[in-house]
Amino acid sequence: MKADVRLLLTTDGSHTAINKEFDKSYHSIHGAYQESQRVYIELGLLAALAKFHEEELRVFEMGFGTGLNTLLTAHEATKLQRRVSYTAIDGYPMAAEDTRLLNFDEQLGTSLLPAIHESPWNEPVLIAPSFTLIKIECLLQEWQTTDRFHLIYYDAFAPTAQPELWEPAIFVQLADLLLPGGMLTTYCSRSYVQRSMRAAGLTVEKHPGPMHKRDIIRAIKI
Ligand SMILES: C[S@@+](CC[C@H](N)C(=O)[O-])C[C@H]1O[C@@H](n2cnc3c(N)ncnc32)[C@H](O)[C@@H]1O
Repeated sequence: MKADVRLLLTTDGSHTAINKEFDKSYHSIHGAYQESQRVYIELGLLAALAKFHEEELRVFEMGFGTGLNTLLTAHEATKLQRRVSYTAIDGYPMAAEDTRLLNFDEQLGTSLLPAIHESPWNEPVLIAPSFTLIKIECLLQEWQTTDRFHLIYYDAFAPTAQPELWEPAIFVQLADLLLPGGMLTTYCSRSYVQRSMRAAGLTVEKHPGPMHKRDIIRAIKI
C-alpha cells in the first residue's frame, strides 16, 4: 500500500511530507534538512565512520520515507570516499510521482535523489561509486534477516502515532541487528523510549538536538 501524503516546505526550505493516515510529518516542520543532518548524519554516520574506520559501513534505516536520510548519507559517503552499504525498510513507501516533487537535490546541490527513488525495491543497487542501497518494502515487525549493522537510523513516526514501534520488544529486535559497538540514533528522547532501549541492553546517551529540540538520542550496543 502506498502512503497518502502531501508535501510541505519546512522552515529551512527543504520539503517534508505529511502522511494523512498517520496525521504526522516525516520530519520536523522547523527544518527537515537540519533535523536529518543533526540526528542521523552528525550524531550517527560521522561517529560510526570514525569508530569503524577500517570497514565498509553497514547502515540500516527504519523508515525510508522521502529518502532524505539516504540522500544525505550517499552524499557524505561520496564526499569522504568511504564505502557504505545502506539497507532501508518501509512498510508504506511513497508513490513515485510524489517523490519526484521533492526539492532535496535543488536544496542540497546534489543529484542522487532520482536514482535513490527510481531504483528497484528488494535488490541491491549501486547509487554512487561508494554507496550501495537496498530498499525493502516490509513492516519492521515482520522483517527477518541475518544481516547485522554498525549503525541504525531509527526514524519511525512519533510514539503518539505509532506507540507499538517504541516498545521494549522493538528495541530488542533492533539491538539484535547491531554489531558489537554498533549504534542507533533517533530524534525521540521520551523517557519511556529511553527505558525501552535500556531494557534491550543498550547504553543510552542524550545529545543536544537541532533547533527547537532539546535532546536527541544515541544508543550503543556495548
Ligand atoms: C518519520 S517517517 C521517515 C522519514 C524518512 N526517514 C525520511 O528521511 O524521509 C516514518 C516512515 O516509517 C514508515 N513506517 C511506518 N510504520 C512502519 C513499519 N511498521 N514498518 C516499516 N516502515 C514503517 C512510514 O511509511 C514512513 O515512511
